[in-house]
Amino acid sequence: KPYVVGIDIGGTNSVFGVVDARGTILYSGSIKTGKYADVNDYVAELAKGLEMVINQAGGHDKIKGVGVGAPNGNYFNGCIEFAPNLPWKGKIPLAQLISEKLGGIPVALTNDANAAAIGEMTYGVARGMKDFIVITLGTGVGSGIVINGNLVYGHDGFAGELGHVIMRRNNGRMCGCGRQGCLEAYTSATGVARTAREYLEIRKDESVLREIDPDELTSKDVYDAAMKNDKLAIEIFETTGAMLGEAFADFVAFSSPEAIILFGGLTKAGDLIMNPIKRSMDKNMLKVFEGKTKLLFSQLKESDAAVLGASALGWEVKEY
Ligand code: BGC
Ligand code: NA
Ligand code: ZN
Repeated sequence: KPYVVGIDIGGTNSVFGVVDARGTILYSGSIKTGKYADVNDYVAELAKGLEMVINQAGGHDKIKGVGVGAPNGNYFNGCIEFAPNLPWKGKIPLAQLISEKLGGIPVALTNDANAAAIGEMTYGVARGMKDFIVITLGTGVGSGIVINGNLVYGHDGFAGELGHVIMRRNNGRMCGCGRQGCLEAYTSATGVARTAREYLEIRKDESVLREIDPDELTSKDVYDAAMKNDKLAIEIFETTGAMLGEAFADFVAFSSPEAIILFGGLTKAGDLIMNPIKRSMDKNMLKVFEGKTKLLFSQLKESDAAVLGASALGWEVKEY
C-alpha cells in the first residue's frame, strides 16, 4: 500500500492529506474544528473529507494507515483527554471513532506537538538531530521532546506538556487546563491578546491597539501594530519572549537539546518574538549550557509539518 493519511487537529482548523512514502502531500483538505460541538458530528464531517482525498488517491486499498496529531492526544490509547482548546470534554476514543467511520482503516493518534516533532525530524530542520524540543505556539502551547532520537512518551503517553509548566506562582492567569499561571496562559496566541488587553487597561501609553474593541483584539492585531512600530505592541512581544526565554532555559537544563524549534501561528511574528526570546534565554541559562542550544524556526509550511508528522504514524499503525 503506497500511501498514508495525516490529520492535524487544531482548535480552529483540522487539516488532512494523503502522503506518499517520500513525504509529498498529494491531496489535502480541511474542516473547521470549532464548528462541531458534538464529536460524532465532527468525525462524520472529517470522514467525508477524508473519503474524498482517499478516493482521489485511488481508494482504501492504497492506504496503509492513518496518523492523527491532536491536542491532548495520547499515543498509548488513541484517546484525547481533557483538551482545553477543543470543544469536546472528557476522554474521547478519537482514533477508534475515525477508524470505524473509515471502514476499519487502522488509525494511530498522538499529541499534535509530538506530530510536529516527528515532522521536523523526518522532513524539517531537525533532520539529523537526536536531541531537540519542538514548541508549538498557537491557540495553545505544546511541545514534542526528542531525546536520543526518540520522542518521549513517558509512563502514560502524555509526556511533554510543556505549555502547562507554571511560570507565575502568585496570582497567575487562569489556564484552560484548570490551573493558574501556565506558560500557555501568557504565550499562546490568546495569551498574547490577554497581555494586550491587560496593558491597555493598566497603562496610559498611546497605542493604535486602543482603536480596537478589546473583546475582538487578537495576537494578529498586536503583530500588525508592532510592525507599524507601535511601542506598546513591541513591548507585548518583549514580555512574551522574555517569559518564553525563561522557560526555554529551564527546558535546556532538563534535557540538553541541540535545538529548540519554534512552530505555529505566533512564529509569524519573526524577530519581534525571536529576539526577546534569545535575550531572555541567554540571561537565564545555566552557565554550563551557555551558547550551546540553537533556537530555530520551523521551515515547513505550518500545517505541513503537523500533517506530515502525523502521517508518519500511519506507516506504523497500531491496534488499540
Ligand atoms: C494542550 C497540548 C497541545 C497544545 C497545542 C495545549 O493546551 O494541552 O496537548 O499540544 O495545547 O495544541
Ligand atoms: Na507533547
Ligand atoms: Zn495550563
